[in-house]
Amino acid sequence: MRFDRHAFEAKGHLVVPGFIDLHAHLREPGFEDSETIETGRRAALRGGFTTICAMPNTEPPIDSPGLVKELLGRGHGVNGARVHYVATITRGRKGRELADMVELAAAGAVAFSDDGSPVQDPRLFRSALEYARVTGRPVIEHPEDLALSAKGVMHEGTVSARLGLPGIPAAAEETAVARDIALARMTGARLHLTHLSTGGSIDLVRRAKADGLPVTCDVTPHHLAMTDEWVAGSRALAWEVEDEALRAGPYESSTKVNPPLRGRADVRALWAGLVDGTVDAIATDHAPHASVKKEVEFDQAAFGISGFETAVALVLGGVGVHWAALGTVIDALTVGPARVLGIEVPRDDWTVIDRDAEWIVRADEMASKGKNTPLIGRTLTGRVVATVVGGEVAYEGEARVTEAISRR
Ligand code: DOR
Repeated sequence: MRFDRHAFEAKGHLVVPGFIDLHAHLREPGFEDSETIETGRRAALRGGFTTICAMPNTEPPIDSPGLVKELLGRGHGVNGARVHYVATITRGRKGRELADMVELAAAGAVAFSDDGSPVQDPRLFRSALEYARVTGRPVIEHPEDLALSAKGVMHEGTVSARLGLPGIPAAAEETAVARDIALARMTGARLHLTHLSTGGSIDLVRRAKADGLPVTCDVTPHHLAMTDEWVAGSRALAWEVEDEALRAGPYESSTKVNPPLRGRADVRALWAGLVDGTVDAIATDHAPHASVKKEVEFDQAAFGISGFETAVALVLGGVGVHWAALGTVIDALTVGPARVLGIEVPRDDWTVIDRDAEWIVRADEMASKGKNTPLIGRTLTGRVVATVVGGEVAYEGEARVTEAISRR
């Protein structure tokens, strides 16, 4: 069906350019029990994302030009978001030798990343930035010093101490951000720091930008909306007052994500970074996992939150309490990520939002195979009612106003 913008606007809906996600996991090839290109593309549309970048931590990893070309040819049969593929920085994501970055870019890779297994050797990372510079493509870096994060499973702070869980200190991220910025300064390459989670990281990027370096960054909806108290059972969004009736039990592995949910001051710093332009994009880090990888002890569970389908509601929540203007977050979901990738915002891709729709997050209504979100059962406000790709309505849901969960 062709998109009739006025028909949606007449219903009071907000029509904005289709969202672009710099960071998502589609799990194909290798982990199709967690997600496939097809289910991921459909889940993206339900979240309002019309273009997504798939990360290469698949099996095999996306480290060969042949695989990039093959994947670009897959999954066109169904309605779904447009997909770009991010190729690895190193062969096999092992951090030992560089992948054929020039050939990978020629095959169509949009960026490079060893996401989840960041390149620890600074000399190798320097070379990676030099090759990336030749290709004109950014390096999307997950900044983490693995020696510092070690066996940590949540943010290191008072909550981890209370729960007796090993922590991941803010410094594990911030020392890596500082190293990466120093190497970007040295090489002149485009460095994109993904899913930043601490105020210290935002400060470092703010200074790098002030120095005129080609450094960009993104933050996720979950880091904008949830704190480490969620690991202890809180289910209040960062701008809500604690609600005992909403509380879950502690140690729910759906709250386990890397980087971990941080403290309240960090959450506020991420919003401040969005407002002053330090943060270029909001990216989901959609990380679906089959239940067998999540329904285990907290310390054994995989890191990751299934993020496409709840992203808009989380971000609009912060807008609702004036932590950022609507235009700021829409830019961070559209022109911001397009600029990072060096692509145009597709002209006929649109996302239609009902800002007032109240809905309950239900596992059986999610298009993603990954039901791993601590938001299951929660009422959220703001929902995507239609998504348009190339002028055609590719997804249309009901703007249902569901009954709010009885809170008392
Ligand atoms: O939480 C995460 N999940 N962080 C990562 O860096 C990787 C991702 C995944 O692939 O599941």
